[in-house]
Amino acid sequence: MKYNLPKYAFAALLAIALGCSTAKQDKIVQTDAQQKTQLPIDRKVDSVLNLMTLEEKVGQMNQYNGFWDVTGPAPQEGSAARKYEHLKNGWVGSMLNVRGVKDVKALQKIAVEETRLGIPVIFGYDVIHGYKTISPIPLAEAASWDMEAIKKSAEICAAEAAASGLNWTFAPMVDVARDARWGRVMEGAGEDPYLNSRIAEARVKGFQGDLGEFNLAACAKHFAGYAFAEAGRDYNTVDISDNTLHNVILPPFKAAADAGALTFMNSFNELEGIPATGNAYLQREILKGEWGFQGYVVSDWGSMAEMMAHGYAKDLKQAAEYAAKAGSDMDMESYGYVQHLAELVREGRVSEETVNEAVRRILRVKFMLGLFDDPYKYCDETREQQTIGKKEFHDGVLDMAKKSIVLLKNDNNMLPLKKQGQKIAVIGALATDKTSPLGSWRIGADDGTAISVMEGLQQYKGNNLTYAKGADVALGEPKFTTRTDINTTDKSGFAEAVAAAKNADVVIMVLGEHGLQTGEGRSRSDIDLPGVQQELLETVYKANPNIVLVLTNGRPLAIPWAAENVPAIVEAWHLGTQSGNAIAQVLYGDHNPAGKLPMSFPRNVGQVPIYYNHKNTGRPSNEDPDSVFWSHYTDVENSPLYPFGYGLSYSTFEYGNLRLSSDKLAANGKITVTVDVKNTSNRDGREVVQLYLHDLYASVTRPVRELKGFETIDIKAGQSKTVTFTIDEKTIEFYTANKKWEAEPGDFKVYVGGSSDATLNGSFTYTHQKNEKDTID
Ligand code: BGC
Repeated sequence: MKYNLPKYAFAALLAIALGCSTAKQDKIVQTDAQQKTQLPIDRKVDSVLNLMTLEEKVGQMNQYNGFWDVTGPAPQEGSAARKYEHLKNGWVGSMLNVRGVKDVKALQKIAVEETRLGIPVIFGYDVIHGYKTISPIPLAEAASWDMEAIKKSAEICAAEAAASGLNWTFAPMVDVARDARWGRVMEGAGEDPYLNSRIAEARVKGFQGDLGEFNLAACAKHFAGYAFAEAGRDYNTVDISDNTLHNVILPPFKAAADAGALTFMNSFNELEGIPATGNAYLQREILKGEWGFQGYVVSDWGSMAEMMAHGYAKDLKQAAEYAAKAGSDMDMESYGYVQHLAELVREGRVSEETVNEAVRRILRVKFMLGLFDDPYKYCDETREQQTIGKKEFHDGVLDMAKKSIVLLKNDNNMLPLKKQGQKIAVIGALATDKTSPLGSWRIGADDGTAISVMEGLQQYKGNNLTYAKGADVALGEPKFTTRTDINTTDKSGFAEAVAAAKNADVVIMVLGEHGLQTGEGRSRSDIDLPGVQQELLETVYKANPNIVLVLTNGRPLAIPWAAENVPAIVEAWHLGTQSGNAIAQVLYGDHNPAGKLPMSFPRNVGQVPIYYNHKNTGRPSNEDPDSVFWSHYTDVENSPLYPFGYGLSYSTFEYGNLRLSSDKLAANGKITVTVDVKNTSNRDGREVVQLYLHDLYASVTRPVRELKGFETIDIKAGQSKTVTFTIDEKTIEFYTANKKWEAEPGDFKVYVGGSSDATLNGSFTYTHQKNEKDTID
């Protein structure tokens, strides 16, 4: 532990060593002996807490957005001047959206050297999928099913952001999402609780590392239920059952907490009529109670104040009261705590112990990050310059990007492309776009810094490339702050595209959404190809059907016509800085694609929400072909266009010889499920072997399938590998009618394969008979 700060920073920490832990202590200059004092974190925290005035405590619970250009003069008027005053008073515990060593250091200096106690500020930022060197959007990364690669990608985010002065990322988003209309599906890991949970762990560990050096505190968000906004419209009402909350939504949050996530963020939505920010059931009972979470909860942006619009709090003061009582520890930009909390305590409406508990949690995290040891720990300009954009980071995000690509269709092995002698027409505005591949939530990155598809393809010199835009994706520039209309009608570039296609052996069409058509506030009611791109695709197809469709988008798209007609389709998402290189390497076969969809692709938007782990209903099929009275549509089939877990490769795999070690799972017992997977092609390849269970009957109805395990394996051409999964009582536990997680006796079907619609199956029975004691419990 280092104690290398001269004057003020450790005043409070040292108070206890000086034997004055309850005294009002001003800035204390430390001696060598005191510098060596090692105390358990909770004692250090209390020693600080004991020195704080009520206002200073409330200040720790207050987070402000960056409010002035710190290189300019201090703000003199308006809200910036007020915030500046608060910072100098020690009433700001955290700031967001301040980045770069110079700015962070300048603000930290005020907190540490100008306030009474010198408590460092924690600097947060939305480092969602990269800081400057951008990784694929999280939904894309999820398609890799590669936990090591995902962890590595989070490590890269953390290394760059921490070198830039940041201490805390508002990630991972672990919201299980079933509705592709919701723009924020791009931020998460898709529709499955199990995959989301494994990815939550990988990302938390990647961001936080061992917290030894320059890691970021992670923040599991949005707690909870946000992705279930009705009709996919962002911020909309959420109305879900307790069953869905516990079995579907909460598991990834629990996994993040168990992996050691230091912070949580609550959410904009209501749950059972109570906004999440004011929801004690979520924050106090489940998170801090049952799960024993020791970190702190930050509100979402302004979500405390939004409790007024929800019709829950009558004014900001009441909102602050509800939020504090419900366990929302830090207020992001509602100003509710800073304006009202001290008064609420004085009036006896909120107890001081409630405030103390929140402050303890916040201080504990600051101690864990080492900010008390050295508040400028993250502020080294030389390290910043040497770290940002390192070659190894580019290699890392390229690797992640390649692993994120999903091959959806490849008729007659149209891919990989030949490397020589081909005339290739590249069509679509997204083919040359150097910003869209950065995707949404890449606010630390500079526009135009991604490798475009065209640039990637140009690395391969043996073919002759021509380019035609064909049509824009959308009206207007894809800027973070401007509207992103999707209804461009300009078809004036079609003729050029058709001419290029006619003259080509192969047409690569790069279509989809631009980088800001997904993300927060970017819900869509149609999820087909925006603008005139569908028409462009069909027009070009008439001229030359030899099309490879490269989709770049941030959500599942409804592309039934393309799925039917276009011979090859590659889902390339928004892949980040190295996007074009990754896509080119896949198209030319230098990387054999192995990604699998983390979210179902619908046939049309009317099927949404569509997800593989649905319930069976009472009328799941039409035994009588003439009957209309079963759960279906009259105009489209029930199945998705491409299911969860689906993805092709240039290799082909055959599954066989499924065997269970027993058809009975006993109490405290285990059984194994083993399968042989053969690479039947002449190319080395990678396959994600997936295990699904169906719990056939239970005290509450269960999904038709649930992912319970997966293994990502490399198999050489022509060779086989054997994969074994273990099933025990933990595997089959769920939130039962007893309102607790338990395994119920019953019959289970097992499916193993390379997609959620795998057919190879077996079965077992869980035989545990409840004894008398269990029943009484
Ligand atoms: C989002 C959060 C984000 C926060 C800070 C909010 O609007 O919902 O996910 O972390 O802003 O930028």
